[in-house]
Amino acid sequence: MDNLLTLGGDDWQTEFDASLQQQAVDALENGQVIYFPKLCFELSDLERHLSAPRYVDPKRKNIHWDPIKNKLGGTLCSWEDRQYLEQLFKRYTSQTERLICHLLPSYEPHLTLGRTSLRPVEAKGRRSSAKKDDTRLHVDAFPATPMAKKRILRVFSNTNHEGQPRVWHIGEPFQQVAEQFFPKTRAPFLGSQFLLNTLNITKSPRSVYDHYMLQIHDKMKLNRQYQQTCEKMQVKFPPGSTWIVYTDAVSHAVLSGQHLMEQTFYLPFNKMQHIDLAPQSILQKLAKRELLL
Ligand code: SIN
Ligand code: FE
Repeated sequence: MDNLLTLGGDDWQTEFDASLQQQAVDALENGQVIYFPKLCFELSDLERHLSAPRYVDPKRKNIHWDPIKNKLGGTLCSWEDRQYLEQLFKRYTSQTERLICHLLPSYEPHLTLGRTSLRPVEAKGRRSSAKKDDTRLHVDAFPATPMAKKRILRVFSNTNHEGQPRVWHIGEPFQQVAEQFFPKTRAPFLGSQFLLNTLNITKSPRSVYDHYMLQIHDKMKLNRQYQQTCEKMQVKFPPGSTWIVYTDAVSHAVLSGQHLMEQTFYLPFNKMQHIDLAPQSILQKLAKRELLL
């Protein structure tokens, strides 16, 4: 199966007919990326200036925005200038919300908003630890943010203004990833989820599902042979394009690119149309037990 479903639509108000909406849900849930080659997120000159790499806190790799708490982070720009960045984030959140509602109306009542990020630092050669190195293929799983029943649905827009594409690798389907890496994982220690939460290491108790997802994430990134030999496809997302993907199931890596906007949405996996395709369902089947109690 092709990894991309390419759709037309060159503005953020585009409406989609019912058959396209169904095609889009099927594609996403089956691990495809929905790709809009001409859906451009524009930045003003001032916004471009304020999102230059020199204004990114060197301890972070992104500038981020929490749309629920109205909170901006990761930037070194002045208090006066922060309002312009906030406006930029609000615009991206509302435009991507509209896109998702038009394209995936069956998800709309169940979606919650996650963070928004702006990634002005060149992805190639960005220094980080192996586990944080997103140039290695992985499925998304985060140590401090357990997902439990939620899926991670992300919208990305390449905002580079020098013609530079965002270059990704897309790896094997989640079923194959899980079959290879789940047998290498270990069960959590009794009580460890609650200990992590009590010590404030996680924002909520880590489910057994999250425990396994994190290990799969780490084991994929740390396995050099797997990184070199597994089946993958290179995709170049040009400036002015947008794409949507379930990053908790689609194995991905960013090879290069600078300036990207990203909006995260969460969907309870039991609101998917094909629940059995959720990583939660696939791992529970492999583990032969309930992982979300
Ligand atoms: C990632 O989600 O792993 C990185 C994607 C990107 O920054 O292009
Ligand atoms: Fe990722």
